Amino acid sequence: MIETDVLIIGTGIAGATAALRLAENPNLRIALITRSEPHDSNTYWAQGGIIHRGPDDRAELLVEDILAAGAGASLPEAARILAEEGPPLLNEILIQTSKIEFDKNKNGDLNYGNEAAHQRRRIIHVGDGTGAAISKGLIAALKSKPNIQWFPDATAVDLITYPHHSRDPLDTYKPITCHGAYVFDHKGRAVHRTLAAITILATGGLGRIYRNTTNPQGSRGDGLAMAHRAGARIINAEYVQFHPTALAVPGSEGFLISEAVRGEGGVLLTSDGHPFMQDYSPQWKDLAPRDVVSRAIHHVMEKNEYSYVLLDIASQKPAEEIRARFPNIYAHCLKFGVDISRDPIPVVPAAHYFCGGVQVDEVGQSSIENLYAVGEASCTGLHGANRLASTSLLEGLVWGNRAARDIAAKLDKAPRQIPTREMIPPWDESHLDADSDPALIQGDMQTIQNIMWHYVGLVRSGERLSRAIRELRHLQNEIETFYRVTKLSDGLIGLRNAIESALIVAQAARHNRQSRGCHYRVDSVDGEGDRLI
Ligand code: SIN
Repeated sequence: MIETDVLIIGTGIAGATAALRLAENPNLRIALITRSEPHDSNTYWAQGGIIHRGPDDRAELLVEDILAAGAGASLPEAARILAEEGPPLLNEILIQTSKIEFDKNKNGDLNYGNEAAHQRRRIIHVGDGTGAAISKGLIAALKSKPNIQWFPDATAVDLITYPHHSRDPLDTYKPITCHGAYVFDHKGRAVHRTLAAITILATGGLGRIYRNTTNPQGSRGDGLAMAHRAGARIINAEYVQFHPTALAVPGSEGFLISEAVRGEGGVLLTSDGHPFMQDYSPQWKDLAPRDVVSRAIHHVMEKNEYSYVLLDIASQKPAEEIRARFPNIYAHCLKFGVDISRDPIPVVPAAHYFCGGVQVDEVGQSSIENLYAVGEASCTGLHGANRLASTSLLEGLVWGNRAARDIAAKLDKAPRQIPTREMIPPWDESHLDADSDPALIQGDMQTIQNIMWHYVGLVRSGERLSRAIRELRHLQNEIETFYRVTKLSDGLIGLRNAIESALIVAQAARHNRQSRGCHYRVDSVDGEGDRLI
């Protein structure tokens, strides 16, 4: 059994920022758990960059861009918080504390890049490996903090909540309160009670519930599913953002071709060389918001029976500039036979970012007491129906910081309420005898991914969504039966979370009959469904 003041689940930018800020108080004990090693997060794979404030930029302009991309569903207050607090916090936490060397120009000033639907060049980057640089900087800064306990190779199974896990019947009458989590230790193959005064979910997104995704293995909606089972309010779950350009070559499906490639002049082409985005968004062309570009690609592919479209940067920029600005994308594509400094890149849309999540307020507090959520697992309202490019890292930074400040103040004011071991039942596996069968887990995961891809994808209809829900419910019964009699493994925990997350998304999508942002229904009630873009 572990006892701590703050339990943080996840080590991407949001969880790491919260930990860094909390660790400033030497009286606080912080436990950081991650299902793999600390760098294994969505943050690590982010390529394009993070929003700063460009030379001729203002917070109000960024707010305008966020609200426009969010298709009328972004919360203005969340956008204002991000635009005002983000840039100074980036300077403090990423540049000064974590010593991340963002790219500079010849004069030694930050090099500001462009991405879709931004009115200004305001995105700073470290080549095309910004997320990896941020992750390395933050984790290195955290490693020097003596009051942080690390638990790698550990997967949270379920949140510990009252009244659910209480032994006192009178707790039934109290509001739902979180007291930590049951955590599966991969190496010891045991589940430990991890008791905490405050728990922060920083578990990232759910791209892996789709067949094609830019997300790493762990993005199975773990935090969303745990919070949902515990009774937290979930919002905007229908808004799953598809990135327009994932590499489409066998053996490397889902590898991200950063939007920064279009930001630097890349143009989308049909296979006979027609630049088609001008037909779909005369104003923004290739730099239209992501939902628009993804649907345009889908439409072009469907109309022409293509299995991909082309992204051409080679004829827009000198080869050496392409190699210098996109060294990782260049090297990766070359391994798969595509020289991006000479050839167009075959691309398709892929599930990329979950704009919905556990509903939180301006400090990351969820609807469950003592449970916070930050980063992609949460929904602050910032992204509305469609996220503006490069806002997610900054959101993780801002809300990680805000949550930590709120928690530190709360713990300072009131005595810490950590239940004793007698109050929380231990995890009981004594009745389980079956080892989990990896073939069953993999097969069920692929079924979820196929259902989500075909019926809850870029283009949706009531009929497709109802079919998805029927099939997912049937599969959930099977998985739950199997889960009840099988010894735990990370794969089994993930499968149970993936089916729960898939149902949350499919049900929200069926419930919302109005097309907006990245939720597009051909049978939209307001007739929007007829308007492809
Ligand atoms: C990209 O580099 O295109 C991804 C950036 C983001 O998702 O904001």
